[in-house]
Formats: sequence, C-alpha cells, structure tokens
Amino acid sequence: MKKSLVLLLLFPVVVLGNTIWGKTGHRVTGQIAQEHLRGKTKRALNDLLDGHSLAFVSTFADDIKADRSFSKYSAWHYVNYPLGMDYVDSEKSEYGDIMTGIEECIQKVRDKNNTREDRVFHLKMLIHFIGDLHQPMHASREEDKGGNDIQVQWFGDGSNLHRVWDNNLIESYGMTYTELANELSNVDRKKRKAIQEGTIYDWVDESHDICAGLYETVETGDKLGYRYSYDHNDLLFQQLQRGGLRLAKVLNDIFG
Ligand code: ADE
Ligand code: ZN
Ligand code: ZN
Repeated sequence: MKKSLVLLLLFPVVVLGNTIWGKTGHRVTGQIAQEHLRGKTKRALNDLLDGHSLAFVSTFADDIKADRSFSKYSAWHYVNYPLGMDYVDSEKSEYGDIMTGIEECIQKVRDKNNTREDRVFHLKMLIHFIGDLHQPMHASREEDKGGNDIQVQWFGDGSNLHRVWDNNLIESYGMTYTELANELSNVDRKKRKAIQEGTIYDWVDESHDICAGLYETVETGDKLGYRYSYDHNDLLFQQLQRGGLRLAKVLNDIFG
C-alpha cells in the first residue's frame, strides 16, 4: 500500500484517539448514573433509549465524530479558558463549548414538542458531555489544546497529557467498566447529596482547577508510569464517581 494511503487511513485514528475521554471512562460514568436514577427517570430513559443502558449510549458523541455532517458538535466536547479564571468570566468561543452544548442538549431533551429523534439525539449527546465535563483536561487551557500538545511517555510509549487522562490512566488500571462502576457506585446518601450539589457552572470550574494542578506536575518529555498512576488514581476515580452521580442528578431533574 502507498505510504500516503496508509497515512490517510490512520489519520482519523490518530487525531480522534488524542481527544476522546476514553470509552471506558464514559461507560463507567453512564453505569454509575444508571444506579442512581429515580423510577420515573428510568422509565423515560428506557423508552427514549429503546432499552439501551446509559453506558451503551455514552460513547455515541465520539462515534459520530468521524462523520463530517456532525462537525458542528466537535467544539461541544470541551472548553478552554485561562487557568485561575471562572468560566462565566471567560471569553466564549464562537463555535460554542461544552457548557453551551450541555445547555442546548438539556433544552432539546426537555421540550416534548421536539421530535422524538431530536430528543434522543440530544439525550445521547448530553450523557456523553457530562462525562467529558469531569475529565479535567476537557476543562482546560487553549495554549496546548488541553494537554494534547504536551508530549510525554506512558510506560515507554509516546503519549500526551490529554491522552493520559482520556485513556492511559484508566486503561492501565486494568478493570472493566462494570467492575469500576461497581466499586464507585456505593456512596452513602450524605456524600451523594454533597457531590450532586451545585450546577454545571460549579462543576466546570472544579474540573478546571483540578486541571491547573495537573499542569504543575508534568512537563513535556516526562516519563510517566507507576508513580503517576499511584499519585493520580484516586483523583481519576473521584472524577468518574462525580460524573456518574451528577449525570444521574441532571437526568432526574429533567425527567423527575
Ligand atoms: N482541542 C482543543 N482543546 C481541547 C481540549 N481541551 N480537549 C479536547 N480537545 C481539544
Ligand atoms: Zn479528550
Ligand atoms: Zn467527548
């Protein structure tokens, strides 16, 4: 095969592989949320999702990225603004961002005058974006594209800071999404209520603050592995748990 053809075929894998909070992360978030839905919410979701689980549909927004007709939505997976600043005070992108995306999805899903198809599409997108909101590098800064331009090694293989948080950390832990969700779903009522407090505007700034801390511990060319995992697994699990419980909250508010 010609070299240019090989490169062309690899292009979507390389580009998309760099910018996707991995499938496992999204499925864990969806599965945790599933365990915290009210009866009415469960019935509404069961109908709209044709019986599919939240985990199953959670990767939809990434699956459609390869189709150019959905390019309008690619800016909705993340937001970048200066570290130390709050989202509400930041300059907004003309293409929209994860916050305008989530707001639009909530409106579209809520409105029963919309077609079923439109409501289902935005519901699947919403389930995905609440997950992305809890990947710290998806509430990040512009200058290195949320860590995509910070090249590092992960157990000797080439990676970057963004990909470490999308995929490498969670995959190297070696648990399936159901195993992880089982571990992270059991939360007492008081802790759950505390996590579910606030709005998406609080949650994005929380992720953004975490992101700022992550930039402080990594430099281009760093060799990351066991030590980085050991130091950051609790934070990873916390973000997955927050994402799942808050997704349940957002859905219970819409359908409850
Ligand atoms: N592209 C530019 N910034 C990004 C970010 N924070 N996350 C994912 N993709 C990006
Ligand atoms: Zn990503
Ligand atoms: Zn995404």
